[in-house]
Amino acid sequence: MYLEPSLLTIAYLVAAVLFIMSLRGLSNQETAGKGNVLGMIGMFIAVGATLSNSGLSGYGLTLGAVVVGGAIGLFMAARVAMTAMPELVALLHSFVGLAAVLVGIAAHLNHHGGGAVESVEIFVAVAIGSITLTGSIIAFFKLKGSLGGNPMLLPGRHLLNLALLGATIALAVFFAKADTTAEGTTYLLIMFGVTGILGMHLVLAIGGADMPVVVSMLNSYSGWTASAAGFMLGNDLLIVTGALVGSSGAILSYIMCKAMNRSIVSVIFGGFGAAPPKKKKAQEGEEEEREVVEIDIEGTVEALMAAKNVVVVPGYGMAVARAQHAVREMTELIEKRGGRVRFAIHPVAGRLPGHMNVLLAEAKVPYPIVLEMDEINDDLPATDVVLVIGANDIVNPSAQTDETSPIWGMPVLEVWKSSLVVVMKRGRAVGYAGIDNPLFYHDATKMLFGDALASMTDIVSELRSEAKAAA
Ligand code: TAP
Repeated sequence: MYLEPSLLTIAYLVAAVLFIMSLRGLSNQETAGKGNVLGMIGMFIAVGATLSNSGLSGYGLTLGAVVVGGAIGLFMAARVAMTAMPELVALLHSFVGLAAVLVGIAAHLNHHGGGAVESVEIFVAVAIGSITLTGSIIAFFKLKGSLGGNPMLLPGRHLLNLALLGATIALAVFFAKADTTAEGTTYLLIMFGVTGILGMHLVLAIGGADMPVVVSMLNSYSGWTASAAGFMLGNDLLIVTGALVGSSGAILSYIMCKAMNRSIVSVIFGGFGAAPPKKKKAQEGEEEEREVVEIDIEGTVEALMAAKNVVVVPGYGMAVARAQHAVREMTELIEKRGGRVRFAIHPVAGRLPGHMNVLLAEAKVPYPIVLEMDEINDDLPATDVVLVIGANDIVNPSAQTDETSPIWGMPVLEVWKSSLVVVMKRGRAVGYAGIDNPLFYHDATKMLFGDALASMTDIVSELRSEAKAAA
């Protein structure tokens, strides 16, 4: 059954509206589930309407691709651990890039001589697609940990970027002037290589702490890539959907940059998170000599029992340990005793935007006690106990004290201003940015070493026994 063109347009319009409503829903934890459902309905309508387009053929092949792709997607989604989500997202962005490259090359082979506008569409789609493809693959390996978090800062890297950009523009001219399809294909493939190197280089030059911005930038690029593919295929919905993803990714990147006190231009062109200049010997020695003060479960429970105000700072380690449910139980026990517990969420805690919010929502921690960094930082000096659960970079004071630090200038949770900070982690390992954390040696800090889930489970059972004894 084929859809009339007017019905197709209406179906696309409905799908586009559903996508916008979906984005709106996703902007808030309470409505995120509904937003997801709206997005799925929109996508169902979009795919159904596209398949009912009278101009389409090759249904067998399409169905085969949907079944195989869908099965792989389901398998990956079912298996992926929450901690591996960021790299999966990066990998999926690379597929969008690859798709645009393939569609662009296919469009060129099919319609060579289709006019200047079409040539521009093809060239731009392959260029953005290629940058997205290779940039996302590098981001995948960086987030997975196969590539180190340190930025690769080649001498004259900005010149290299400029040269690659210049070569791309020159190839665009050659491509536009090509006499034959084969000649055009050659230029297109060379440009694919050149922009591919550019994509790799741009992401390699970015340091660990700035990876969140890169992930959202690549998200944005993948949207613009889809939009460009929409122009090539003459598909209005793909243009609109790509633009929605592209602009929401760009807005997210801007918000993340603001939250991290970074300039978006500098992050795009790399160089942030650069290896800090060598520290003075004395300072290095000083750090080696410094001892941390440890605390045990009993000591932590005692402090929690005595505290009127407790702030929990969750980080990537809480996600790794899957300690969020135990954390919620602890919260309930403290609240029952009359204490006040709130959560402080740093914008880049964990490994993907909203990572901590998702985990806490899953554990049914009430939304009103989950506060953003800006909402709670001023309250930290009046807090009795701050529990830092598997967080490191987001509570690192060197962002404010050490100009040579790669995270210098990044706003952090000022937990050291509270009366007592209990830092829960397994050992003295560094966080994602790969830098030492002076918080561990601070006067207000005590370290509770161990896996966050094991420690949290012990804290919960101690608090339970105390509650029983008091009843
Ligand atoms: P991190 O700085 O990565 O620190 C996490 C800490 O958790 C580690 O120091 C680790 O120390 C500890 N840990 C790991 N497993 C644990 C376990 N099972 N039990 C207890 N502790 C455990 O995390 P953060 O403070 O959340 O900061 C996030 C970092 O990731 C930032 O640098 C940010 O820029 C970057 N990043 C964020 C995103 C987004 S969008 N959120 C994306 C990419 C990168 P031990 O090994 O000693 O236990």
